[in-house]
Amino acid sequence: MARIEAEVGRPQGGFLKWIDDRFPFTATLKYHVTEYYASKNFNFWYVFGVLAFVVLAIQLVTGIFLTMNYKPAAADAFASVEYIMRDVEWGWLIRYMHSTGASFFFVVVYLHMFRAMLYGSYKKPRELIWIIGMLIFFVLMAEGFAGYLLPWGQMSYWGAQVIISLFGAIPGIGEALVEIIRGDYSISDITLNRFFALHVIVLPLALIGLIFVHIVALHEVGSNNPDGIEIKQNKGPDGVPLDGIAFHPYHTSKDLVAIIIFLMVFSAVVFFAPDMGGYFLEHANFEPANLTATPEHIAPVWYFTPFYAILRAVPDKLWGFILFVFAVLLPVFLPWLDRARVKSVRYRGWIYKSALAIFVVTFLTLGWLGTMPAENIYVIAARIFSALYFAFFLLMPYYTTIDKTKPVPDRVVYHG
Ligand code: HEM
Repeated sequence: MARIEAEVGRPQGGFLKWIDDRFPFTATLKYHVTEYYASKNFNFWYVFGVLAFVVLAIQLVTGIFLTMNYKPAAADAFASVEYIMRDVEWGWLIRYMHSTGASFFFVVVYLHMFRAMLYGSYKKPRELIWIIGMLIFFVLMAEGFAGYLLPWGQMSYWGAQVIISLFGAIPGIGEALVEIIRGDYSISDITLNRFFALHVIVLPLALIGLIFVHIVALHEVGSNNPDGIEIKQNKGPDGVPLDGIAFHPYHTSKDLVAIIIFLMVFSAVVFFAPDMGGYFLEHANFEPANLTATPEHIAPVWYFTPFYAILRAVPDKLWGFILFVFAVLLPVFLPWLDRARVKSVRYRGWIYKSALAIFVVTFLTLGWLGTMPAENIYVIAARIFSALYFAFFLLMPYYTTIDKTKPVPDRVVYHG
């Protein structure tokens, strides 16, 4: 019997084979991990996708534990957060990890998006990866906004008041829309309840679904790289791209280094500066919501401030709202606004390089302006930088056409 099995070949890995006969386990692992070939010249900018996964995991796990003690009711919410901070075992750590994680999510995602702008990763054939990414970004903004109301602090309440009332500027349907969002005639217990439902169920589910589709689309076309070269066009006799290396173990081992460094920085903030000088947790939010006293100046958390500055740059409420929506939506169209024949900034001319550098300064300055009071010089500056923000996108079809690009090499440039 044993001799016959040896001749025929005993089925390898019995249990695995049993699974594989019923579910494409090994095939999926090969397709997405051990035989997913990504360019060997990935650099620093290519770690942020994986880091976004790490932050997502932190948010989901800490969020579940917070939910066990948080009370989504106007009368109890603030006190329940204080209870988590003071009385729940390790509650302070879980809460600070979650609040710090929210800001780090945006740090990581902004850098991840900027990488796509550096290397033209949104260009053909990756338009869908980019569009799905923008949808992720919108859901993430909604998630951050809904989450900020939950501690029911002064800034939670008044920040939501300002942002929700913006929808009222829409002619005709505005007021009705505001009531639908609030679920009441003012921000109340009912609003808090529905924001809680959105924050813990609806939006995380949407986020996870979109991230799944994001990766499926990425693995269909393959990753771009710092040279913007399609590595699939240059395959060896075995069908493997000559410039590609397997995601596991080669990229995963590099990503692990990035994850460790990331966790060190993350821990430093959690343990030593969880409010980050009022940027991650605003000072006014350490006071319970007071419906009769507006804080001196209302500013959203830092990750919304570039768009908030654009909103306030316009005196008219409706136009401010329109420009705000326009500013958030414009990047969706980057794949079609950018007419350059090359993808990577490495082979672009001085015009695109300068435009991108000005854009970075513009975005950061708008972010700072959004935290300042909307008066005098700040408003004038916000108008100038808002104009620069829109110019970057709207003039792009023109300046990327006239920009003199350099020849792109056939193979990726790799410095071992
Ligand atoms: C939770 C949020 C997100 C997660 C977990 C995520 C995850 C990933 C991962 C793991 C990769 C491959 C590794 C890498 O290239 O870094 C990737 C690639 C990509 N992502 Fe995301 N992503 C997220 C949000 C976004 C957003 C907001 C955008 C843009 C609006 C975006 C656009 C892209 C693009 C264009 C690529 C392809 C890049 C290339 O091949 O050069 N992603 N994403």
